[in-house]
Amino acid sequence: METLLAVDSLSVSFPVGDHWVPVVRGVSLDVGAGEFVGLVGESGSGKSMTAYAILRLVPDPGRITGGRILLDGEDLLGLSDARMRSVRGARIGMIFQEPMTALNPVFTVGFQITEAVRVHHRVSKREAELEAVRLLDLVAIPAARQRLEDYPHQLSGGQRQRVMIAIALASKPDLLIADEPTTALDVTIQAQILELLERLRRELGLAVLLITHDLAVVAETCARVVVMYAGQVVEEAPVETLFAAPAHPYTRGLLTAAPGLGRPGARGELATIPGQVPEMARLPTGCAFHPRCSEVMDECARENPDVYPLSSEHRARCFLHGTPASRSEAS
Ligand SMILES: Nc1ncnc2c1ncn2[C@@H]1O[C@H](COP(=O)(O)OP(=O)(O)OP(=O)(O)O)[C@@H](O)[C@H]1O
Ligand code: SF4
Ligand SMILES: [Mg+2]
Repeated sequence: METLLAVDSLSVSFPVGDHWVPVVRGVSLDVGAGEFVGLVGESGSGKSMTAYAILRLVPDPGRITGGRILLDGEDLLGLSDARMRSVRGARIGMIFQEPMTALNPVFTVGFQITEAVRVHHRVSKREAELEAVRLLDLVAIPAARQRLEDYPHQLSGGQRQRVMIAIALASKPDLLIADEPTTALDVTIQAQILELLERLRRELGLAVLLITHDLAVVAETCARVVVMYAGQVVEEAPVETLFAAPAHPYTRGLLTAAPGLGRPGARGELATIPGQVPEMARLPTGCAFHPRCSEVMDECARENPDVYPLSSEHRARCFLHGTPASRSEAS
């Protein structure tokens, strides 16, 4: 599979008092063309900030402080603002948790989709309307032509999220970044939206980076999973491997903490690993997970582990799978 997006050693920091606190710390991850990749981790682990950085939309006063973001080999961090705006619209689409806040309540659905179409393609109003109907059909909104006249509040939550997906697809992007797109929806609707994303991947060859708290969602949709903790990638694996043989104690904790995982419709919320997510401004020494880790060793409090390969497709940031730099240098 061709690599579409390659994030390499990405760092994002926010100023706190008189120094900069990194909240994304050297994140590397790839998304292949037409691949469905999950990005998981507890609240505050840096998932959204990674997504914003990919789009170069890190909110002020945050800054991207290092790394590269390659889309088809081109470094997005080197583009002018104007070029980046066109990449953001045309090549990478994004959808968020709460579609009501992203849709404008005072304009019809039809107006908002046709505007999105016309931003990206020089077409007449009539052609844009036809395209809007096609997009609503594509996201399986019934009676698409009639829905064009509706205002966002006249639609259900699930339908609003479908409209947001239609707007994101107006530019025919290669990559869709979906940040908790189903968290606000009930379980049945959630499953339908995930099915829709999977169908779009299959039919359009769309790559999807899906950010979620929910391991059940990952199990149902993703081919590959990237797990984040305290601003770093701690494990990456094909989805079957991650569930069958999780290598990082944090991932193992998430899996045991996820109630009823594997049951259809079950929610795999990540709330119950003992201990607390550390504050980014006050990270523990060494491995950031060590105060919560059931397998902690002496070196864990002293040194931050590298990412160690377990196979060509599986890697983990943990001394259970590699030797601390201090010891390997000594030997
Ligand atoms: N505007 C901001 N100023 C300072 N720090 C921020 C700001 N926005 C986010 N952060 C910090 O950046 C870190 C990462 O936040 P991020 O929103 O990426 O987490 P997340 O993994 O998406 O969490 P969630 O699952 O709750 O959405 C957090 O520690 C958060 O406190
Ligand atoms: S490096 Fe040590 S503390 Fe960190 S996850 Fe591995 S065993 Fe646990
Ligand atoms: Mg988030």
